[in-house]
Amino acid sequence: MIKSMPGMAVTPVRRISQRVQSIADSGISSVIIFGIPKSRDPIGSSAFDRNGIVQDAVRDIKSSFGSAMSVATDVCICQYNLTGHCGIISYGGRIINDATLKVLAKIAASHAEAGADVVAPSAMMDGQVYAIKRELHNRRLDASLLSFSAKHASSLYTPFRSAAFAKMTTRLDKSSYQVSYSNSRVALREIETDINEGADMVMIKPALMYLDLVRMVKNRFNYPVAVQNVSGEYAMIKAAAMRGWIDEEEWKVRSIASIRRAGADKIISYFVLDVAKYL
Ligand code: PBG
Ligand code: ZN
Repeated sequence: MIKSMPGMAVTPVRRISQRVQSIADSGISSVIIFGIPKSRDPIGSSAFDRNGIVQDAVRDIKSSFGSAMSVATDVCICQYNLTGHCGIISYGGRIINDATLKVLAKIAASHAEAGADVVAPSAMMDGQVYAIKRELHNRRLDASLLSFSAKHASSLYTPFRSAAFAKMTTRLDKSSYQVSYSNSRVALREIETDINEGADMVMIKPALMYLDLVRMVKNRFNYPVAVQNVSGEYAMIKAAAMRGWIDEEEWKVRSIASIRRAGADKIISYFVLDVAKYL
């Protein structure tokens, strides 16, 4: 159980097919995997291990469900390295963008090789879409690419980090590479760049504070858009609902409805299973 996400738990790889079965039973036909490995090292090498946690999970799901379940994977290094940052850090403490691209490309290829239908880079490094697309092309791998294009720096990721980054700080400052909330220009530029680099779908996250961007992107680019309703958005609803201050079902259903109304083609959320049950 994740303390700041009541009702949510990390699924061990050995129980992944069972978990995905219950998701399939509720009528949902796609999942995204965020890996939480047993151990970390300075460069996050278990992220591209052939027998890493995500690669094993993907092979398991694909062998049980085949094309009936579409599997996407989160491509990043922060759950696997020692700093918790999404890029490789120099001795001076700066993010080394281009060295990180090589690692991200390797991770994505290893996921595609394991059978992932979609690879989803979330590191917010410049050029990550192009670097991954090129690697997939060179290795004749045909996964499609969902880019976490406009990932805003936010404390709303704190519950996720408290699960994924156990003993580490959950208050990492990622504002040098994640997007600022303060205007829409930067977010739209990030999205346009990713479309130009060949992303098959772009993503905006968190969800509810950024739905204006979803509509702008649909109007301006008419491109497939995904939205991630993140851990802090889940935690806020649970915290208030558990005290009887708001109605849990109403907030879950209407959150998803508002994301859809804004124009999202795909929605990633911790409560899609509940919403599937309510409806
Ligand atoms: C890391 C990552 C984060 C989330 C997904 N992938 C957190 C971060 O950027 O530190 C957040 C997900 C959530 O809060 O639900 N690349
Ligand atoms: Zn990351």
